[in-house]
Amino acid sequence: MYLTLKEILKNTRKGKFAVGSFNIHCLEMVPSMIEAAKVKNSPIILQISPTTCKYIGFALLSSTVKELARETGVDVALHLDHTKDFATIKIAIDNGFSSVMIDASALSLEENIEKTKEVVKYAKEHGVSVEAELGTIGGTEDGVASNEGEIRYTSPEDAVKFVQSTGIDALAIGFGTSHGQWKSKAKLNFSVLKNIHDVIDIPLVLHGGTGVSEEDLKKCILGGISKVNIGTELNVAWVDATKKNFKNADLADSCRDLVIPSNDAVQKVIENKIDILGSSYK
Ligand code: 13P
Repeated sequence: MYLTLKEILKNTRKGKFAVGSFNIHCLEMVPSMIEAAKVKNSPIILQISPTTCKYIGFALLSSTVKELARETGVDVALHLDHTKDFATIKIAIDNGFSSVMIDASALSLEENIEKTKEVVKYAKEHGVSVEAELGTIGGTEDGVASNEGEIRYTSPEDAVKFVQSTGIDALAIGFGTSHGQWKSKAKLNFSVLKNIHDVIDIPLVLHGGTGVSEEDLKKCILGGISKVNIGTELNVAWVDATKKNFKNADLADSCRDLVIPSNDAVQKVIENKIDILGSSYK
């Protein structure tokens, strides 16, 4: 079934599991991503950056995802990842996305609240969920890199004010994760997570899931994380498999022979993450 983010995350806090939110890097990989969820009998969130979305096309993507959800019976939400401008968010909502993220975290708390409220109003009118971010997540967000010294942990007091004033459905928090951290391990601050979890009752989101160890992911879920974003690891799996396949390109009869192993590699990563996050239906 095609669901909103709010619906798909509904039982996560009580059930002590998280739903994986996996970045789409090209249209080719989408059926394999949903197939992974089908094999594992799990819900799945497919998320996409505005840049990739413009490459694939908003309408093509949302109709493909909706059709695959209908055909496979898998519970799927389609989520627009880190977006700073209302115009792009509006295009996603108007084209049938079931969830969007407004990322105004680089602004002051007051400005972040104002921008987020504008998105929540439009999204709610269209039955769409909203995720927003407070604090900073390290690494590169939309091509803008942050240094470790500049990373701000989310403050619990600000989080309470932010959630109450905006009416968002999920909150992305900064507690030590970084985007695109492929070669090193993330150092997480679990007391920041606990202090936020104690005062916030909507689902909390971990960004930068690549580079977080299996052990830490499990600790995060016990600590109250409901949505885990994984992007880079899928891109690396797809590209690595493609490089290998193209070395034997003269043996291929069809272009499909070259990309099917890449899609299979993505499927394998997602199946493994679903096991770690514990999202298979009981
Ligand atoms: P990674 O690329 O580090 O897995 O992060 C993905 C993410 O958080 C997208 O918002």
